[in-house]
Amino acid sequence: MAETGIRKDKVNMSGKRKEKASVLSQREIAPDIYDMWIATDMATEAKAGQFIGVYTNNPANLLPRPISICEVDRERKALRLVYRIAGKGTAEFAGWQPGQEVLLLGVLGNGFPINEGKGKKAVLMGGGIGIPPMLQLARELSEAGSDVTVITGYRDSRLFLKEDLEKYGKVYVATEDGSVGTKGNVLTVMEKEQIDADVIMACGPMPMLRAIKAYAREKQIAAYISLEERMACGVGACLGCVCKTTHKDAHSHVNNARICTDGPVFDARAVSYTHLRAHET
Ligand code: FES
Repeated sequence: MAETGIRKDKVNMSGKRKEKASVLSQREIAPDIYDMWIATDMATEAKAGQFIGVYTNNPANLLPRPISICEVDRERKALRLVYRIAGKGTAEFAGWQPGQEVLLLGVLGNGFPINEGKGKKAVLMGGGIGIPPMLQLARELSEAGSDVTVITGYRDSRLFLKEDLEKYGKVYVATEDGSVGTKGNVLTVMEKEQIDADVIMACGPMPMLRAIKAYAREKQIAAYISLEERMACGVGACLGCVCKTTHKDAHSHVNNARICTDGPVFDARAVSYTHLRAHET
């Protein structure tokens, strides 16, 4: 593996750990969606909703790519990452074979508040590449005694992770083209199936998160949303991932939060509509 000066540090300025790890397995589970298990000690501390930075082997790319954690196997000390090819970095990851040595930064982010869903009716909503973090979340909530329902939103019939999610609760599918499940989005399913929720936890594209924020406010349901955002440093130093919040930060006295360190999971009430609209794709 090509090494750069920056990669030799065990711990960077943020206190986050860099660790050499190795690929255990890798397969394509849907077009351009890859499922990779990595052996790493980070599995002992990782939890649902957190992410790790994965470095490419190209020395020109000093910054890691943020990838959310799909599943944690503490016994085997392994993390499962399910990611979409979205550029050169992730295209390189997709070519890695078992035994490949990789460099990780982590564990990053705050994760979902499991205590807020403990013993309650928890409805998990994942859209597109926001579905993978729902797997570890479904597992942790079901272990916490929650009644777990998962609503997944896909573009078309090329589903992924559905059987894995079914281990932890009832799974509903929405597709944009109506080829499988309900035609529409995750909230179409919520209304059509008249699903009750004490708490909603979600990850997906901005329009979906914006709609969930509005839905939760109208129905007075607690909601926690994980913001997908372009990130650079991943450790709070570059301010490249700032989002607009409804409350002022106690230290800086501005309506900002860093998604990589204050998030990526936020109480939906704390994220301003301005941010969710401005970052619509
Ligand atoms: Fe640099 Fe969040 S990515 S501050």
